Amino acid sequence: MTYTFVTLFKNLVEGYFQDSILKRAIDGALLDIQYLNPRDFSESKHSKVDDTAVGGGAGMVMNPQPLYDALSELKKNDEDVHIVFVTPVAKAFNQNDAKRLAKKSHIAFVSGRYEGIDERVIETFADEVFSIGDYILTGGELASLVICDAVSRNIGGVLGNSESLSIESFETPLLEAPSFSKPQIYKKSSVPSEYLKGNHSKIRSLKLALSENKTKYFRPEQLLKHRTRISYEK
Ligand code: ADE
Repeated sequence: MTYTFVTLFKNLVEGYFQDSILKRAIDGALLDIQYLNPRDFSESKHSKVDDTAVGGGAGMVMNPQPLYDALSELKKNDEDVHIVFVTPVAKAFNQNDAKRLAKKSHIAFVSGRYEGIDERVIETFADEVFSIGDYILTGGELASLVICDAVSRNIGGVLGNSESLSIESFETPLLEAPSFSKPQIYKKSSVPSEYLKGNHSKIRSLKLALSENKTKYFRPEQLLKHRTRISYEK
């Protein structure tokens, strides 16, 4: 998988790939990270990339020209590139999107700064537009990294055996059961005794009960989905 980060601030993105799982994936040639700076494509005298909003409104909006030319160049070099814009004005990204996008060969993440991106660029180039949640970040770089990370762990070989993909929250509507590490007792607090006894069917049913409790507390709408699914399967 190749990722191209289309950003004015490469430095904000680069650090994330310098350690841990994604670094290992880059070293193993499973991922390739490229950067494209719209400023390098600006035709204005001082390499300007933004301007005040037409029709009024606070803040600066990214001009169409530098982005338009950057993305045209990207598409010219790889017509299969899948272009993703990140903005709070979009569908919320989820685990199904992560799994689906993991099958692409090349994804470009377009990060806006300032008050946003000229809508005409989005309309011309976007294959998809995602928000990562109902809050406003100072720019799209973090949102792009969040999506990139979630997609990458679904690419074959990116996770090692010890970082398995198997039963995780959002693979089913239930949130994952709590996990524990050693020691069995820490500061007088023990892991659930059932976890220690080695009866796998009992452990499974305890984990399911704990999952349901967590889901009921944190995400009641997901529990409803789970129960609907179970009664449908019966
Ligand atoms: N840019 C700014 N805020 C964002 C959000 N919540 N999701 C995606 N992109 C953004």
